[in-house]
Order: sequence, then C-alpha cells, then structure tokens
Amino acid sequence: MMSLKNEVLALLAEVSSENELEGLRNSYLGKKGRVNQLTKEISNLAKEEKPDAGRLLNELKKIIEEEFERRANSFGLEKEGEGRIDVTLAGEKPKMGHLHLVSVAMNEIDEIFKELGFTRTTYPEIEYDWYAFEGLNMPKDHPARDEWETFFIEAKENKRFGKVVLTPHTSNGQIREMERLGKPPIRMINMSKCYRRQSDVSHIQMFHQFEGLVVDKGISIVHLKGTIDYFVKRFFGEERRARIRPFHFQFTEPSFEVDLSCSVCNGKGCKLCKEGWLELGGAGMVHPNVLRAGKIDPNKYTGFAFGWGVERTYMMKEGLMVDDLRILYRNDLRFLNQF
Ligand code: PHE
Repeated sequence: MMSLKNEVLALLAEVSSENELEGLRNSYLGKKGRVNQLTKEISNLAKEEKPDAGRLLNELKKIIEEEFERRANSFGLEKEGEGRIDVTLAGEKPKMGHLHLVSVAMNEIDEIFKELGFTRTTYPEIEYDWYAFEGLNMPKDHPARDEWETFFIEAKENKRFGKVVLTPHTSNGQIREMERLGKPPIRMINMSKCYRRQSDVSHIQMFHQFEGLVVDKGISIVHLKGTIDYFVKRFFGEERRARIRPFHFQFTEPSFEVDLSCSVCNGKGCKLCKEGWLELGGAGMVHPNVLRAGKIDPNKYTGFAFGWGVERTYMMKEGLMVDDLRILYRNDLRFLNQF
C-alpha cells in the first residue's frame, strides 16, 4: 500500500496543469479509482486481516487526499501571483552593516606588524594566574599586581598554575608563545580581549590590547625603538613621532612608557596636550626571569615586548577625540555609523 503512496507522490510532482491534476485525482480517488479498488479487495481477505488492512487503507487515503490538496493549492498560488511581479521596479536596498571600529583598528594594526614579519596570535581570555602574573616575574602577593585590577573566576585552583583569572593584559601571550614555538626566533603580535575592574571615561571593564614580543639573538633597545617608530609612522602618519621614557614593569628590564607626539602641536606643547606628548602604553626588554619561565636561556637570547590598548591607540589617531571611551561599546548607531 505504501508503494501506492510513493507512486502518487511521483506522479503529482510531474503534474503541470490543473486538468492533469483532476484526471489523476479521478484515477486514484474517484469512484473507480485505485483506492476504491483496494477497498473492494479487502473483502476478499481473511477475517482477522480485515481490521488492520482497513485501518491502513484509511490512513493511506487520507495521506493521498492531503497530497492532492497541497498540489491543488500550489496551482492556486501560482495563479494568484501571475502578473503581479513588476520586474522593472527598483529593489529595496538592504541596510549595510560594517565592522566595528575596534575590529577595523585590529585589522589595521595586524597588517602593519605583518609587514615586519610578526605572526598574529590570540590566547585564552580565561587564564591561569601563572601566565598572567607569576610567570611574568610577579610572585603571589607582589604589590605590582594591584595595578591589574583583576577579575578572578570561581574555579578550582590548579596546583601548578594557580587561580583562574580573566586576562588583565595580553602579556600572558608572551610565555604561551615561547611555549608554543619552543625556541626563538619569536615575532608575535597577540591581540585579545582584556578585563579589569575599572570603569570611567578613559577605562572600560572589557577592552583590547595588542602585545608585541620579539626574542632572538642580539635583540636590543634599538630594535624596540625601530619597531615602535615604524608602527607609529604607518599607523598615525609620517609626521608623528614616538619617544620612550623610563618606567617600571616587573616583566621587563629596563621598562619604558611610550609617548606619541600630539596630533595638533607634534611635540611642542599646546592647550590640548599640555606637554606635546600623549601616553601610548608600556614596553621594555623582556626580563630574564620571564625568558626562563618560557624555557628560553637568557644568556643566549634577549627580547623586547610592548603592550598597548587597541581602543586607546585608535582614539589617538588624528581627528578622533572621544571624550568617553565607553561609547565604543554602547551600540549606539548614531556613533557607530560615522565610521
Ligand atoms: N602588560 C602591560 C600593561 O598591561 C604592558 C606591557 C606589555 C609593558 C609588555 C611592557 C611590556 O600595562
């Protein structure tokens, strides 16, 4: 009986007019149609077979009727639509979206470092204390940790790697990359989300950083400064300048803060910047303890690292004076559509 259903379905698919459909309906569901023929045959069956066969046939009939109905409806629809499509009418333009400006910034940054042979990476946002702090020469209870107002996750502490945190900076990528490659040369640009317990006009709880790490034989501050200069000129414009100023980080020695000359006075000093320079972010020569933590011999190799905020760096591009960084993530189309 079920093969009858398949037979009907196959024929229905090929029907091309309502007349044809009616003919087909007659030969299956009409008085002398196949279904009625089968009904007659049931009377020839043995007594105990009759009820089951009857039920099956009724079901089959219902299915076939529905299929005919559906096919008839489809003809109706085709008819209704006839002549209604005016192909000369102008179409409706769908609204176009675009990448968020932070994504645009990250792609742009990535492109520039690619030119210098850096490999882009991203490492976990949920990270062990050891990668975020301890391996970076910041032992437990070290006061320097206070600056990275860290979110801790309520998860089981790992015996070797400690508590679980949301990455407060991309520097966790330094040791992870040393581990991934096993040995220098390393030229990494690690871009990831970072989290800190902070929220005001110039800080957001979730933001992005890009972290550069270069480790090889004979790497010096000259390479660091050259890389920074290259990036600054490519990203901000030929006329902008960078300077490095002594600072302190546990994971670099010596450490610097990198400043960018102001877009208005270019280093002379004006009302906007006061002293001519704006702070870009941290940098320095990789601390020997950090190299050791990544199983690299500090007597053979040296390296430099830097880590800057993507949002902050992008805002410092000429003409982008955003009073409140938090607007980046408020999803206000009036703001986002401008980019
Ligand atoms: N991780 C530092 C921060 O979040 C920045 C930094 C990276 C400094 C690498 C030196 C070297 O502020």
